[in-house]
Amino acid sequence: MNVTLSVIKADIGGYVGHSSSHPDVLENADKCMKRAVKDGVILDYHVTKCGDDLQLIMTHQLGENSEKVHKLAWDSFVECTQIARTLKLHGAGQDLLSDAFSGNVKGMGPGVAEMQFIERQAETVIIFMADKTSSGAWNLPLYEMFADPMNTIGLVIADNMHGGFSFEVHDVKEHKKITFNTPEEVYDMLVFIGAPSRFAVKNIYHRETKEIAAASSTQKLSLMAGRYVGKDDPVCIVRSQGQFPAVGEVLEPFANPHIVEGWMRGSHNGPLMPVSVEESNPSWFDGPPRVTCLGFQIANGKLVGPRDMFQDLAFDFARKQALEMAYYLRRMGPFEPHRLPLEEMEYTTMPQVQKKLEGRFTQL
Ligand code: 13P
Ligand code: 13P
Ligand code: MG
Ligand code: MG
Repeated sequence: MNVTLSVIKADIGGYVGHSSSHPDVLENADKCMKRAVKDGVILDYHVTKCGDDLQLIMTHQLGENSEKVHKLAWDSFVECTQIARTLKLHGAGQDLLSDAFSGNVKGMGPGVAEMQFIERQAETVIIFMADKTSSGAWNLPLYEMFADPMNTIGLVIADNMHGGFSFEVHDVKEHKKITFNTPEEVYDMLVFIGAPSRFAVKNIYHRETKEIAAASSTQKLSLMAGRYVGKDDPVCIVRSQGQFPAVGEVLEPFANPHIVEGWMRGSHNGPLMPVSVEESNPSWFDGPPRVTCLGFQIANGKLVGPRDMFQDLAFDFARKQALEMAYYLRRMGPFEPHRLPLEEMEYTTMPQVQKKLEGRFTQL
C-alpha cells in the first residue's frame, strides 16, 4: 500500500509563556483531525505537542505537498489559534506568518516533514520533534544514525545496509541543495552539515534501493518573516528496521546530548535533552531545548501507537548530563558561546545601542 506520512507543526500559542501547550488546543486539533478522517482526507492521525508546538502526525494517500492535506493542517492551526486567542495564550498564532492559505504551508511558518513509501511487511517509523531549537538540529544525530559505524553497527555487519546512504543537504540561506554519498563522501559532507545554522539534512535515501529513509523540516522562520517570531522547532521522520537502522541505532545519538542553537529568545546555545512528551515543558530559562520521540508501526495506513520512546530510564543519564551541561552554560550569562554569535542571534538590541553610542566610538 502506498502511504504518505506527513508531520506538520506550528506554535499557535504557548501555555504558560513558551513552556507548553494548552489541553483545549490539543483537544480542538484532535476534533479537526477526526473530522478529516471522516471526510476521507486522511487515513489516520495522532495529535501531540512538543513544548509549545502543536504537532499533527497524519497518514494519507495524497502524496507529498498535497494541497488538501496542507490546507487541513493550516485550517486546523487557524482554528486552534482562535482558542489560543480566547484563552489569551502567549503568542497566539505565533508561527502563522500569513493571513491566507495559498496551496502549501511551506514558507508560511509551519514546519513540514513528509515522506511517501510503499508500506513494508513491518513498517517501523520513528518521529522526532524538538522545541527551542532550529532546523539543522538533526544534522548530527542523522549523520550518526546513517553514516557513523561507531553508532550504527548495522552499517558494518548488515548486508542490506553496507552499501550506505545518500544525504540530501540544503543550504537554507542560499536556497541550494546537494546530495552526498556516504561513506565515501563523509568528509566533504561534514564540512557542510557541521555548520547546522546554514546547512541542514533534508532527506536521506538508501543507496541501493533508493528508498526514502529520513525526512526533516528545514524551514527557517526568521529568514521567512525577516524578523524574530520564534524558533523553527523542527521535526524529523526516520524509517527503521530492515534496510534501515534498528530502533536502538536510531535512538542512540540522543543518549549523548549535543549542543544546539535556539534556547531563550532564540539566541542561546544549549544541550538537546531527550524527554517524554509529558516532560516536554521547557520552563527553566525557557529550556533547555527538548527533543521528544514517538514510535509507530504503520499498518494499512493506520498509525499503530505511539510508543513514547524517550520514556525509558536508559535516557535518565542523558537527561542528567544535559542538565549538567545546561547549568555549566548558564553560568556564562550573556557571553558567547552560550549566547549565539552576533549574526545568528534572533533577538538583538545591537542596532539601537550602536546608534545611541554612535558618536562615542572613535578611531583607534
Ligand atoms: P530481535 O531478535 O528481538 O528481533 O532483535 C533484532 C535486533 O537485531 C535488534 O537490534
Ligand atoms: P518558541 O520558538 O518555542 O516559541 O520559543 C521562543 C522563545 O524565544 C523562548 O524563549
Ligand atoms: Mg512559542
Ligand atoms: Mg516552540
